Amino acid sequence: MPAEPRDRLIVALDVADLAQAEPLLARLQGLVTTYKIGSQLFTSVGPAAVECVRKRGARVFLDLKFHDIPTTVAGAVREAVGLGCFMVNVHAAGGSTMLRAAREAALEAARTLSVSRPLLLAVTVLTSLDRSVLQRELNVPLSVEGQVLHLAGLAKAAGLDGCVASPQEARLLRGAFGREWVIVTPGIRPEGSGTDDQARSLTPGQALRAGADYLVIGRPITRAPDPAAAARAVIEEINRG
Ligand code: C5P
Repeated sequence: MPAEPRDRLIVALDVADLAQAEPLLARLQGLVTTYKIGSQLFTSVGPAAVECVRKRGARVFLDLKFHDIPTTVAGAVREAVGLGCFMVNVHAAGGSTMLRAAREAALEAARTLSVSRPLLLAVTVLTSLDRSVLQRELNVPLSVEGQVLHLAGLAKAAGLDGCVASPQEARLLRGAFGREWVIVTPGIRPEGSGTDDQARSLTPGQALRAGADYLVIGRPITRAPDPAAAARAVIEEINRG
């Protein structure tokens, strides 16, 4: 669990290019310490996205959800370590050999480069999937919660640090996997902000009380008229616990 309240906030940098990212980073400088870079920005500008955050002294959660054969995922994780990422994720559904390969690659690359190892997180069941998709399309006979626990267990056994989870799943995961398991939750909406397309959101305080270590928040901050004020309000709420 991070020591500083502000280090528990991860702002989702869901923008198309550096021209949109730079002004946001400038407005949030000194306030936000961690950013999530996902498929859109990374596909658009590549490693320059990570460099642009890191050169401002902030940390990067590289949210590319690697899911491939073990060798390929290991290679991708190695590159992420080389970019100096603070957090990286992979799909637990890639299986335990892939998960162990990801962990080994993170450890080995960090050792070779003499840098700290990124936190390696698992993605379990995407929140866009519900029980009927799991059962009818993916042929998974479990409930969403059952499958989340199953896949998180696989990730833990393979030595991963934690998982990305909906705030609704945080309590269950914290109970099942204990204090050391890192839980990162998107789907957060501060009191009074709209829900956008997040169907079942919790406030920062609710998510923390449910057991989240880190909160991923995008649009309520990035699209606020005053992003710094919105970020400050979330950090204050994190501070209150
Ligand atoms: O703007 P908003 O706060 O909804 O952004 C949330 C971020 O977290 C987005 O980058 C989204 O892709 C990601 N995310 C999510 N729900 C998940 C997993 C990731 O909203 N279950």
